[in-house]
Amino acid sequence: MSADVRWDVVTGDLTRCATDAIVNAANSSLLGGGGVDGAIHRAAGPRLLAECRTLGGCPTGEARITAGYQLAARHVIHTVGPVWQGGGNGEARLLASCYTASLTLALDHGLRTIAFPAISTGIYGYPKQAAAAVAADAVNQLLLEEPGGFDDIFFVCFDEASAAIYADAVQAVRSS
Ligand code: APR
Repeated sequence: MSADVRWDVVTGDLTRCATDAIVNAANSSLLGGGGVDGAIHRAAGPRLLAECRTLGGCPTGEARITAGYQLAARHVIHTVGPVWQGGGNGEARLLASCYTASLTLALDHGLRTIAFPAISTGIYGYPKQAAAAVAADAVNQLLLEEPGGFDDIFFVCFDEASAAIYADAVQAVRSS
């Protein structure tokens, strides 16, 4: 865990984050949906969908970047989390890959502040405790490889209960 990055868990609306990038929990079409995907597209306006149409979709575990348009964030990094199927279908590896791919894309574009939702824990049904542990470990591993790569990383949860779960998971890796 590199000391010079601020890594916080907050409760709030991801669409209001004025970071260099917010991460969208998208589906493989990248053509919008419900949950945080729907909220991001509503807040960004129709030009976001227009740009997403040019990307040709995104496989689970990978990430694509667009502008943020009417969002406070400059960019949206769209990633596709795994649908929870009981844990025996590589869900943990694919979820970790969402965080690693999103952070790597941010690094490639020189973005230093980034905010994540609780990827896959809504419509995709990933149990929150398990998802939080995977997310915290993946981010921590990337930070060990890229010390100084980021100024701020936020996990933005939509409710206090989720924020407590993600805060515990982050604390666990920070103290390890
Ligand atoms: N800000 C922060 N978090 C939010 C917001 C928001 N505005 N809206 C929802 N969330 C939270 C949910 O409470 C959940 O904890 O984001 C987390 C992820 O939930 P979903 O948005 O349902 O995403 P996911 O579970 O990854 O499912 C993706 O849902 O919206 C569709 O197109 C999307 O098919 C894809 C699927």
